[in-house]
Amino acid sequence: KDMKVLVATEKPFAKKAVEGIRGIVEEAGYELALLEKYADRAELLSAVADVDALIVRSDKVTAEVIAAAKNLKIVVRAGAGYDNVDLEAASARGIVVMNTPGQNSNAVAELALAMMIFMARNGFTPGTGSEIQGKTLGIHAYGNVGKLVGRKGKAMGMNVIAYDPFVTDDALFEADGVKRVASVGELYEAADFLSLHIPATAQTRGSIGYELLMSMPKGATLVNTARKEVIDEAGVVRAMTEREDLKYITDIAPDAQAEMAGKFGKRFFATAKKMGAETAEANINAGLAAARQIVDFFKTGDTRFQVNR
Ligand code: 3PG
Repeated sequence: KDMKVLVATEKPFAKKAVEGIRGIVEEAGYELALLEKYADRAELLSAVADVDALIVRSDKVTAEVIAAAKNLKIVVRAGAGYDNVDLEAASARGIVVMNTPGQNSNAVAELALAMMIFMARNGFTPGTGSEIQGKTLGIHAYGNVGKLVGRKGKAMGMNVIAYDPFVTDDALFEADGVKRVASVGELYEAADFLSLHIPATAQTRGSIGYELLMSMPKGATLVNTARKEVIDEAGVVRAMTEREDLKYITDIAPDAQAEMAGKFGKRFFATAKKMGAETAEANINAGLAAARQIVDFFKTGDTRFQVNR
């Protein structure tokens, strides 16, 4: 029986990535359907009605979407964070959910470094800025992205420290010349630049706020290429109001965007639309990996990248 694979991306992949996905899907004898830049939920709900597999980006795969997808067997989030997929609803139907870890990490890591320099140079406006060389870079979570940020930071001459309670092997940090610290507190109090790479989970939600920001060194910058949900926005606003030296740059527009932009001027910056994984390379890596993972799952039962076991 032929399988139907839907790519549903509100923020479309680069054309070359879509072509590559089509090649892999059709080579396997399956059908590819494409839903890009859809305007409302209704379009997504009708597009999933007859598909066996679904590839998404940050698109919200809610219980409603899963209920509407009667034949759905697998969802692959082409990317790292799968907080946009209702894992419980999927698991209840026996639907396999996967991500494509590492495939778009370099793009995000490059953006994190770029954001540090952008803030150090007054948002590319006139006036004396500062350099990132010689500054301390704190990396919160040393996963696929954090690791690359660490190595790039070292290459830029930064003093790199990191915190990650889930990494058990010290050698991983040592190999990159990165100093492991034992607590979140130690990380923030030393970081001139703090790069966030934690996922949005029940544990991390709203976990970065007033206390941590207030503990940072003079002139420190918080860089968020992770998720807006991990930020306690009221706490960040309060800290930045009390301390006029603190800066915040984010790739995910906060709910308090207007307030932050109004109050903090050049000390705050948010990209117009999340662009961390928006490179042709990342689209191709993640998109093609997603297509391959679906074909491997159907042909050989491979569930290596499943996240809802
Ligand atoms: C990820 O989790 O992989 C990134 O946040 C990328 O998200 P995007 O596919 O929506 O750009």
